[in-house]
Amino acid sequence: MHEVIGNTDGLKNNIIEALQQLYEYKAPPWQLVSPELAVEMSKITTAVNREVNIFLDRKGNVLSVSIGDSNTVSLPDLSGRRGSGRLSGIRCIHTHPGGNSQLSGIDLSALRAHKYDLMAAIGVNDEKPEEFVLNFAIITGKDDYGQYTVQEYGALKADVLDTLFLPNVISSAEKLLAVTDDDQKLEQRPERTMLVSLEYGKQDRQWTSEDSLEELRQLAETAGADVKAKFLQKRPKPDPGFFIGRGKVRDLALFAQQEDIDLCIFDEELSPAQQRNLEQALGIKVIDRTALILDIFAQRAQTNEGKLQVELAQLQYTLPRIMGQGLSLSRLGGGIGTRGPGETKLETDRRIIRDRIAYIKGCIDKVQNVRKLHRSRRNKNQAPSVSLVGYTNAGKSTLLNVLTHSDVYEKDQLFATLDPTTRQLDLPDKRQAILTDTVGFIQRLPHQLIAAFKSTLEETLDADLLVHVIDVSHPLYKEQSEAVYRVLHEVGAQDKPVLSVFNKIDKLPEDSGLLEQLRAVPESVCISAKKQIGLDTLLEIIANHLKLKSAEVTLLIPYSDSGMAAKLFESGTVLSQDYAPEGIKMTVRMQTAEISRWEKFIVEGDL
Ligand code: GTP
Repeated sequence: MHEVIGNTDGLKNNIIEALQQLYEYKAPPWQLVSPELAVEMSKITTAVNREVNIFLDRKGNVLSVSIGDSNTVSLPDLSGRRGSGRLSGIRCIHTHPGGNSQLSGIDLSALRAHKYDLMAAIGVNDEKPEEFVLNFAIITGKDDYGQYTVQEYGALKADVLDTLFLPNVISSAEKLLAVTDDDQKLEQRPERTMLVSLEYGKQDRQWTSEDSLEELRQLAETAGADVKAKFLQKRPKPDPGFFIGRGKVRDLALFAQQEDIDLCIFDEELSPAQQRNLEQALGIKVIDRTALILDIFAQRAQTNEGKLQVELAQLQYTLPRIMGQGLSLSRLGGGIGTRGPGETKLETDRRIIRDRIAYIKGCIDKVQNVRKLHRSRRNKNQAPSVSLVGYTNAGKSTLLNVLTHSDVYEKDQLFATLDPTTRQLDLPDKRQAILTDTVGFIQRLPHQLIAAFKSTLEETLDADLLVHVIDVSHPLYKEQSEAVYRVLHEVGAQDKPVLSVFNKIDKLPEDSGLLEQLRAVPESVCISAKKQIGLDTLLEIIANHLKLKSAEVTLLIPYSDSGMAAKLFESGTVLSQDYAPEGIKMTVRMQTAEISRWEKFIVEGDL
């Protein structure tokens, strides 16, 4: 006969029998508790208005049943308890009469003290026992005082039991615990990662989901992930709760368990609720493409301003994802998706985030005002400017290096360049220009990022000429090029003169015929930055462009028209001004298109 522990005084026989019957239930190993068992516990709770408490092992066997408060029940002495750094292998599930499933301080202390796999409370619905709600908590590490930290989830509806994949939840908790107990950093081991994409609705046949998934792999590896698998599901439309189909969620959960996966990255943007549901169902950290890109940017930001901008984008992304029910797995334990620029750790409290957003915006404004001032000073005797734009990995930094004989970081990695780099460029006609390398663009660049970087982008793109570097050895170079134009459009630089530079022609097969086609494209040049092919032609075209685009003119503005002198500052870069007896003599570099408006004042210059 199985023993029922706790305060059984005054209980009727049928209740004691019902409690004893609970030993006969068995939960499937992947399920937190079987719904039938939870309902039965609820019914007993309603009948006696007391807590019913069970302990389950990892196979789903009921090890002990007790009645009364959970804190009065001691952990049964069981073989198979694990040592330090591991959890006990036992989980505690108990009912709360009255419907509230929130865990009490006592529940959480018991979780810490016994290192349970998890602690769950069922908020009993007296009218409809099958419609209970559930909270559970796991240990997530240690705080600065050596106390175990815990994370609570809930209130969750009863049907969470069908989707939550318990082994992964426990293994996530164990990994976090092992890390803190061993005093190691989680980042030390590359995160074992699986990638997931959903193909639905109308497809862009050129840039397929497979291509996008492949790019996601590169991005993930850039962030330091160890990519173990890619999954692509096709269905007519996303599932509102889980984004992918529920059957697929179960497959992924099993895969994650078998392959010891730590991180799952989705190629599409997930809603905050989908992300949370997926984390609960898979039991591992889930992030989306946007969070991944933001994480890479966070690692790359060098300047103070760049760091502030990335942090702003990250916080704006995080804010709607912090729900009343506490943190999600993706914020726990560090690693990809949790890193801020520099040493900063991303905040996880709504109010702190709001304050920080306001503070960062203020800082960015200040930095930008100072820079504007420098810029306008520099403008006075400014050389023409050229900005390099292009898809990430197109070869912009390589080109900047060979053209200006410098050594900017270049690597076969996405987003090697983040902050704009400026160098002096010597043109064949002995003039000099300023050459700036900008951040690489990408398909579906997170809008939070574009917004945060908007003014930096606007400034760097406010050049006399944009040189668009395109990696023509990439099979999807056309789509990449379109993505670049989309971003240019977004920051209002669509009307800038653009020179297309087809790079990496050394990688094109001799017989592809592509080179011939490319050579015929107007406003373009074919080069290899690495093998230094076509660079003289490129420089020549740039010089011609700049010559055509702007000219130096000297104007004499009579004092009676002195209002016009102020307008000149808006039309071009004023290089010098002199107060002569007949009027103000000003030398200005201006766009050739502008010159005709000033014709009647011009006294000198190549018209
Ligand atoms: P982001 O920083 O991501 O924006 O990249 P980027 O456009 O600055 O590219 P980067 O100059 O870092 O070059 C990317 C990779 O392409 C590097 O491994 C370069 O060596 C390589 N690369 C650049 N130009 C050429 C070229 O003309 N031919 C070949 N074969 N490889 C090149």
